[in-house]
Amino acid sequence: QTIAKYRSDNRGLKDFYKAYFPIGVAVGVRKLSGDESVLIKKQFNSITAENAMKMGSLQPREGQFYWKDADSIVSFAVKNGIKIRGHNLCWHEQTPNWIFTGKDGKEVSKAVLLQRLKDHITAVVGRYKGKIYAWDVVNEAIDDDPNQFMRNSKWYQICGDDFIVKAFEYAHAADPNAKLYYNDYNTERPEKRERIYKLLKSLKDKGVPIDGIGLQAHWSLQEPTENELRTAIERYASLGLKIQFTELDMSIYPWEKNKRARKANESDQYTPELEQKQIAQYAMVFRVFREYKSVITNVTFWNISDRHTWLDEYPVMGRKNYPLLFDVNLQPKKAYWEVVNFK
Ligand code: XIL
Repeated sequence: QTIAKYRSDNRGLKDFYKAYFPIGVAVGVRKLSGDESVLIKKQFNSITAENAMKMGSLQPREGQFYWKDADSIVSFAVKNGIKIRGHNLCWHEQTPNWIFTGKDGKEVSKAVLLQRLKDHITAVVGRYKGKIYAWDVVNEAIDDDPNQFMRNSKWYQICGDDFIVKAFEYAHAADPNAKLYYNDYNTERPEKRERIYKLLKSLKDKGVPIDGIGLQAHWSLQEPTENELRTAIERYASLGLKIQFTELDMSIYPWEKNKRARKANESDQYTPELEQKQIAQYAMVFRVFREYKSVITNVTFWNISDRHTWLDEYPVMGRKNYPLLFDVNLQPKKAYWEVVNFK
């Protein structure tokens, strides 16, 4: 009955949220044809490349760019009137080792690394100038450990925090109209929130061209609480920054930081109790999003449906997860109807 109702209803998330913010989805090129592409076009008006625009995908070797997959996503979006979020320009993962390494096999100097970063950003942002409306410029630079400030990545080891300022400047020079975001996870946890706030405030104080913060929103049934979510939005918005939820999903398992193998007795049952909690959590976060529509400028899901999500492999290999609004058959879940039911 609900399936019939869904089929006969031409509206998707993007239509219900038209007066609020674009609703996006992260995809790989294989999703651009077949039944998943039909769902994308009905539901979403923003798209992110799940992997195709990361540094390791675009420039696996120095000066040798691989554009095919990124170009496919961009042309699919342009053809279908879908906005594009670029993800991402500078990160400590999925980044090729050559960028940190000289011809002698040793670590490069700060000057060389910044020049390489500049060349990369100039090429990528320049290629999609006017097409990609927002970029995640720097991803995950703050450490999870409350006793640390910056993540001790190669970027940080070689450049200190200067790589952040520079990345934003390079991106702004390559496309002055693109909106530029700092993107991170666990952004609602009070102690990480305050360190991110401090970083963002220092960027604003220095006059760095930053438009907003991307809150990844890899959430669970326990986190964030409504209060944590509200506090985070208000705290970041107080800096005059826009807010985008860039990688939303709602794991049915509690948050776990490190990748590991599945244990033999580990259950991956999507029980009615877990589904009920997930419905309530989805209803809560979208109610809060609607309330803050003046500062929220995008809400993007990380993957399309429970048929496949990156959380099937992360952090536990081979443990099935059910974090999205569409089920394995691409049908809307109960949580979907809560999200489009404005009370
Ligand atoms: C993930 C992709 O979904 C996976 O396919 C890939 O194997 C690893 O990266 N934070 C981010 C995203 O900023 O780029 C990550 O995407 C998920 C966590």
